[in-house]
Amino acid sequence: MINILENISLKNFTTFGVEAKARYFAAVSEYEDLKSLILNEQPANQKHLIIGGGSNLLFTRDFDGWILHNKIKGLEITEETDEYVLVNAGSGENWSDFVDYTVAQDWGGLENLSLIPGTVGAAPVQNIGAYGAEQKDTFLKLEAMNLKTGEIRTFEKEACAFAYRSSIFKTHEKGKWFIMKVQFRLQKQTQPKLDYKPLKNYFSGKPASAITIKAVSKAVKTIRRSKLPDPKVLGNSGSFFKNPVISKHDFLSLQQKFPDIPFYEIADGKIKLAAGWLIEQSGWKGKSLGQAAVHDKQALVLINLGKATGLEILKLSEAIREDVFNQFDIRLEPEVLIL
Ligand code: EPU
Repeated sequence: MINILENISLKNFTTFGVEAKARYFAAVSEYEDLKSLILNEQPANQKHLIIGGGSNLLFTRDFDGWILHNKIKGLEITEETDEYVLVNAGSGENWSDFVDYTVAQDWGGLENLSLIPGTVGAAPVQNIGAYGAEQKDTFLKLEAMNLKTGEIRTFEKEACAFAYRSSIFKTHEKGKWFIMKVQFRLQKQTQPKLDYKPLKNYFSGKPASAITIKAVSKAVKTIRRSKLPDPKVLGNSGSFFKNPVISKHDFLSLQQKFPDIPFYEIADGKIKLAAGWLIEQSGWKGKSLGQAAVHDKQALVLINLGKATGLEILKLSEAIREDVFNQFDIRLEPEVLIL
């Protein structure tokens, strides 16, 4: 039987740690419990949200609907050869612990994604990425429950339409599915991905034999900890904004004005800019507005100094957007889900 709670505080369920109350709250750990909740309470016909680690969410007011807290656990190897292993992970598993487990077995593919907060089920939703890798590189398929009917459907990789911090679960299938488990294909003989410059620098001068899966994971953790605040110490949601993608034409005129602007060429001749750089140039790095602040080591991260409200953090983000727009004519889009 599933326990339905009412009017409970969400403060400890998000990494920003701001106060907000949920009208209804249910922790889900079994398929059958979720199905009966779907059929009896019909959360999909009301305001509803699934939360995992709460690491990409900003509540700016109370939530007048259903919060379904994902606690579905389980790890299972479904196939193993000399080359690869297929692993199923319950969607409520902690992502970072799951990565550590795969790294400890010497299975390659997730090591660049070490230490990302959140759950396994949230990883495909926004196609998490860091240090030159994205979850789509190892994703095979996922199983999800329809939030209206309780039916289970398998989504193969192609059907998920993964893109930079996006998938169908953030676009036209938004709010329709509860992801139950995710399958990854991990490699036994892996090629380390060292495209991200600080990672390459970390290993420069080291012999190839030193660049193991475990060593890459350790390097990623070191780099990550040097830039990103630990949510247990300082409330935050990682990157608050997405890195903006613009046309080459727009980029060339911007580059004339700002010759030092960092950029990456991506598919279709488009250019991705570094939102952290734009924010730093607009003077916001290390600055605060009330209890909300811009992290002093990475301007893309907004932090809760302790007693911030969601509205205060939102206000800070809007002030930043306005200044970046005035200076660069670029509109930053939040990466975080604002509610
Ligand atoms: N930069 C600045 N000032 C800053 C921050 C960054 O000038 O305050 C410059 C850096 O010098 C560098 C460039 O911006 O030239 C990019 O910075 P960084 O390598 O730190 O990465 P990012 O683009 O700011 C993205 C992801 C992170 C991910 C890192 C590493 C997004 C929105 N963010 O950040 O993901 O860890 O790359 O791959 O794509 C997250 O999504 O929550 C997240 C932390």
